[in-house]
Amino acid sequence: MSMKLARLLFFAGLFVLFFGGQASNFVKPMATGLNSPTMEKESSTKVGENLYIKYCLQCHQKDGSGVPNMFPPVMKSDWVTGDKDKLINVLLKGLVGDIEVNGDQYSQVMPKQNNLTDDEIALILTYIRQNFGNEAGPVLPADVAMVRSKSITR
Ligand code: HEC
Repeated sequence: MSMKLARLLFFAGLFVLFFGGQASNFVKPMATGLNSPTMEKESSTKVGENLYIKYCLQCHQKDGSGVPNMFPPVMKSDWVTGDKDKLINVLLKGLVGDIEVNGDQYSQVMPKQNNLTDDEIALILTYIRQNFGNEAGPVLPADVAMVRSKSITR
């Protein structure tokens, strides 16, 4: 190896060591600030969970199992994993009267939750559709807006 080349490599190495290190310090926080799709999903699950805790847990319980003869379960419930519009209407209009959930009868009153925003309802319903052993697709804010607009004009 020529002396010139060796010196060039030496300085190139120093350059990478020094500025390379600086660059990674600079790039790392930027990269963590960017939301990857999985991170976005995790944080919206967390928000959905917190909303569930605030607005639903008192009746449907932390694990979604409900209270026998009082509050039906949202765990493994067809109401939760089934038709989206029907589910959205449970929150927008409340639910009164005889219903069957997982083979058990309920005849209670669920107060409507229509003070919640479209985003909040979408997050809560997506959370309950994808937790407690439920595996159904998400509910989007646009789905809620659509059902809400229908229920206003009717
Ligand atoms: C004050 C108690 C109470 C609160 C708060 C409440 N619910 Fe209910 N919920 C009920 C009752 C009671 C019923 C059954 C009504 C009936 O018997 O017709 C019900 C029914 C349901 C149903 C349909 C049946 C089932 O279990 O799958 C869903 C879905 C549901 N609630 C979701 C929610 C969600 C989501 C929230 C929070 C935003 C919520 N509820 C808040 C009491 C409550």
